[in-house]
Amino acid sequence: MEQQKRYGHFDDQHREYVITDPQTPWPWINYLGNEDFFSLISNTAGGYSFYKDAKFRRITRYRYNNVPMDNGGRYFYIKDGDSVWNPGWKPCKTPLDFYECRHGMSYTRITGRKNGVEASVLFFVPLKKWAEVQKLTLKNESNEVKTLKLFSFEEWCLWNAATDMENFQRNFSTGEVEIEGSTIYHKTEYRERRNHYAFYHVNAEIQGFDTDRETFVGLYNEFADPQAVMEGKPRNSHAHGWSPIASHYIEITLQPGESKDFVFLLGYIENEQDEKFSAPQVINKQKAHALIAELDTTEKVDKAFAELCEYWDALLNIYKVKTGNDKLDRMVNIWNQYQCMVTFNFSRSASFFESGVGRGMGFRDSNQDLVGFVHQIPPRARQRIIDIASTQFPDGGCYHQYQPLTKRGNNDIGGGFNDDPCWLIFGTVAYIKETGDFSILDEMVPFDNQPGSEVTLFEHLKISMDHVIKNLGPHMLPLIGRADWNDCLNLNCFSWDPNESFQTTENVSEGTKAESLMIAGLFVVTGKDYVALCQKLSEYSDNSEYSDEAARMQQAVDAMIEAVKKHGWDGEWYLRAYDFYGRKIGSNECEEAKIFIESQGWCTMAEIGAEEGMVAKSLDSCKKYLECEHGMVLNNPAFTKYIYEYGEISSYPEGYKENAGIFCHNNPWVIIGECIAGRGNDAWSHYAKILPSYVEEKYQTLHKVEPYVNCQMVAGKDAYKPGEGKNSWLTGTAAWMWYTVSEFILGIKPDYDGIRIDPCLPETATDYTVQRKFREADYTITIHPNGSQKGVKTITLDGKPISGTVIPYSAGKHTVEVTM
Ligand code: BGC
Repeated sequence: MEQQKRYGHFDDQHREYVITDPQTPWPWINYLGNEDFFSLISNTAGGYSFYKDAKFRRITRYRYNNVPMDNGGRYFYIKDGDSVWNPGWKPCKTPLDFYECRHGMSYTRITGRKNGVEASVLFFVPLKKWAEVQKLTLKNESNEVKTLKLFSFEEWCLWNAATDMENFQRNFSTGEVEIEGSTIYHKTEYRERRNHYAFYHVNAEIQGFDTDRETFVGLYNEFADPQAVMEGKPRNSHAHGWSPIASHYIEITLQPGESKDFVFLLGYIENEQDEKFSAPQVINKQKAHALIAELDTTEKVDKAFAELCEYWDALLNIYKVKTGNDKLDRMVNIWNQYQCMVTFNFSRSASFFESGVGRGMGFRDSNQDLVGFVHQIPPRARQRIIDIASTQFPDGGCYHQYQPLTKRGNNDIGGGFNDDPCWLIFGTVAYIKETGDFSILDEMVPFDNQPGSEVTLFEHLKISMDHVIKNLGPHMLPLIGRADWNDCLNLNCFSWDPNESFQTTENVSEGTKAESLMIAGLFVVTGKDYVALCQKLSEYSDNSEYSDEAARMQQAVDAMIEAVKKHGWDGEWYLRAYDFYGRKIGSNECEEAKIFIESQGWCTMAEIGAEEGMVAKSLDSCKKYLECEHGMVLNNPAFTKYIYEYGEISSYPEGYKENAGIFCHNNPWVIIGECIAGRGNDAWSHYAKILPSYVEEKYQTLHKVEPYVNCQMVAGKDAYKPGEGKNSWLTGTAAWMWYTVSEFILGIKPDYDGIRIDPCLPETATDYTVQRKFREADYTITIHPNGSQKGVKTITLDGKPISGTVIPYSAGKHTVEVTM
């Protein structure tokens, strides 16, 4: 193996990842903000901010796939004599005497030192505030007096991030700003249909400013050497059209040992229609003044930061494990849960691989993200379920995605993905098991957001199940529709036209025989959940309608199991699908892609044919054909040519993305299958292969992307560079890794009436303790594995033995001892 350079390390005590070299193999980013105002920030302070929706309310500008990489962001230029530098190294790239970036829970601190001056910037979005704080601390560590010139820098985006990148014939004429004291206001389009503006403020007197990019940077200069900075002279420019920016200029003198704080604030404001202006053409700044007043001193900012830290303390106190294995504990206790919050907030919209303009909140994606988040803030999960269900159609189908700002289905992406409806059951059941809140099922929820169309959420679940039952193919297996979980297995789209999108081009539904074994497995898993839910409802309400419904669905589930056994088994593994013409996909008979991971995962989780040995054989086949050093690939052998009948999946070169990449999202499905089958050694070895903390230790350079979170895809064994990661942060992998480790490996499963204990561990596992807050209870659960992979022998609750594996719920503090 090539010698791996290290770029950083974990600091578990502070829940931080510490980057010590700015030249990481790819920008290593973090997310700021938890609810409405969000920012992406890289380890060199690149990135951007937006309000709620990365497409429709982009506050600052970012250029993707730029040269150099990750150019643009929030920059502080420090001019100390002839030397100009940035605490985050970029964009000047002046060599620093010291550099460090600490990414923490919703904050980032970047520190640089040069010639006896230290500049440390703390970036965060205070709770419930629509603003990003940038607290800059400048310290003179030398023995001489320092006279510094400081320039801040932000570039405004003209709100709609999509048109901002294309409609220059308009854009170059619309930009408008106002300057008042130390605050620069961005008010493009405010005079017409917008009722929002942004501002960039500093809590100090300024000696100059710039708001016109060309004037500040110079037409033939770059962010690395803006003319105003290089000459140490702001131009006091006032932008009219072109590209508005915000830059403050401050002259600072520091005695030896002296340090000074500056609080910069990037804020977003909305005004009522009749309160937009304080005078003709002058924006009403009342709310901005109020927001600034809340955060205009170091003390106020420190207090807001302490609140943010407490917020994360509380969130991360809900599930805490102590196994003695740092690499496992830090992922479970810190980073996996943190990533789950981020994927819940953004679905697949805004990362350094997702531009924020193309994709909103996915129907299936968000339901899966819920499973990683529901224990953190259940009321937000509840609202999300209602929002998602509101984009469903009366026949159970749904928009594939919706926009976070409007909560409306996104027509550009369309619908017809036949796995989508099942995920609503998955998400809702997880919510009820966590909270015991069955009342969510009585919520009145519209179809396609149409007022007057409301039915109960339970009715939505029912039509979701029925959508599968009403769309069965010739083998009584679910018709795939546009695609199932694998967006790129496009069996009803036949395209030779490179100008068409595989996802939105015609979905040939007439005469299709294309069926999905992945949906079959998913239907059995969620169908069993649905049956159990109906049984609970009938138990609690004494209403026979629910038991009838349970029986009806049990029949459908049984029929599906039979159909899979009869038509979905290939001898050593489950088939993947039938194509448009009814030919097998993912079979030994196929020339390439003989086996796929998705159906192995779902059919083993569903335990289809377990008694006949199908589950064990399928899991063995995953090891034999899909596993490699870096995880399990999606299919094997990889496609070497484009197959018109299969679509996008075969468009990728071998080893990437859906063509035999290690699509991390689906590895946990097989791992859970292993856990259900009781094969703890295998489950663990698959799990550790894609666990970031193990990867960070071994492959920092090769892996390339952030070593503290999972990425969507790692190049598979057929790729040019197996092990190289891509598409970090926004991936269903986060929630699935969490679900896998918290519930199936460590074995702490929320259930309707309590917590079910059912670990599945490697033989080498030693005693461990899980601290689990659950509803109004707080459990300390110690597990003694005794070398066993699976099977709970005894449980005591507060010293008294209980029968079965469910700890009955009761409020208060409890101690639980489990022997296996
Ligand atoms: C999408 C998922 C999809 C997966 C596999 C992801 O990018 O967000 O919805 O299931 O790719 O194609």
